[in-house]
Amino acid sequence: MKRIFSGMQPTAHLHLGNYLGALRNWVKLQDGGDFECIYCVVDLHAITAGHDPDVLAGSTREIAAAYIAAGVDPSKTVLFAQSAVPAHVQLMWLLSSMTQMGKLSRMTQFKDKAGKNSEKAGLGLFSYPVLMAADILLYHATHVPVGEDQKQHVELTREVAGTFNHRYGAFFPLPEPLILGAATRVMSLRDGTKKMSKSDASDMSRINLTDTADQIAAKIRKAKTDPLPFPETLKDLEDRPEAANLITIYAAVGGLDVEQVLSRYAGGPFSGFKQDLADLLVEHVAPITSRMNALLAAPEEIDRILAAGAEKAQDLAAPVMDETFRRMGFWNKG
Ligand code: AMP
Ligand code: TRP
Repeated sequence: MKRIFSGMQPTAHLHLGNYLGALRNWVKLQDGGDFECIYCVVDLHAITAGHDPDVLAGSTREIAAAYIAAGVDPSKTVLFAQSAVPAHVQLMWLLSSMTQMGKLSRMTQFKDKAGKNSEKAGLGLFSYPVLMAADILLYHATHVPVGEDQKQHVELTREVAGTFNHRYGAFFPLPEPLILGAATRVMSLRDGTKKMSKSDASDMSRINLTDTADQIAAKIRKAKTDPLPFPETLKDLEDRPEAANLITIYAAVGGLDVEQVLSRYAGGPFSGFKQDLADLLVEHVAPITSRMNALLAAPEEIDRILAAGAEKAQDLAAPVMDETFRRMGFWNKG
């Protein structure tokens, strides 16, 4: 059986990049029936960049609600919070003994987040990819649907799995990243060379799944473009990152090719295109937002779903954890 594992951090509200790059694909994969799907709220990862203890639990519920509102079905998938299954951390420790520091120091996400002052970065931020490898390998996942930015981490996971298999005998499948859809890297609305991100200081840079219709319309209206007319060909999009981003978002949300969007609006003003894009986004995002709000009005129901998911996850993880300890020669493990 092919098995999927993926997760998102409960660090802030989810945005359009999370939705188009990952969440929407998770739902398609669940509904396609070819995979057993495990979807996790990776709360242990969320503490690596500093966090507020007063909001962590609420954010964890909010991300779970976003998954469900977008179409993740807790009865067809395993939906749980990472901290509820201690084996993630146990496996991470075992895998850390076969992960090279040099490789971790070359991870783009670490370099971006640590910035210039990497001496002061926490060990958790540095070893973040080892925990991610543990998440995936603990369930013998074969496929990992993520946005483009996480590909490097899935590749590291394959290398760590390969090292384990070489040292202790073939055990972990080498997982493949699944990078799907038209918008695998959604860019900031303020700067088309930066990815849309939860951590950008400007809320105008992103569309949040919790935004109102008015907020969405204002953000698209004010989104950066350039003074040139609406492009006509793919070649015209070169060196116009902001235009390319908005057109890619339109194509992804509207289920069109970029060429179809170009021929629909070619020669016209950006303003008409932006108005239509805002309407399209509102049409897609508003139902998710209202389902999310309804779910968040009954947090005890979300807690019940997460607790039931954690039990299922625990049952899948326990034999893999035992066998990993056994192969590594630990006392009393067989
Ligand atoms: P994170 O917000 O870092 O927890 O990311 C959760 C998921 O969303 C991962 O699969 C990311 O690859 C994906 N993702 C995050 N930002 C973007 C973006 N700007 N464009 C496309 N996918 C993204
Ligand atoms: N690192 C991922 C991100 O920042 C989140 C994540 C943690 C993840 N563990 C995972 C994604 C396992 C896929 C599989 O987006």
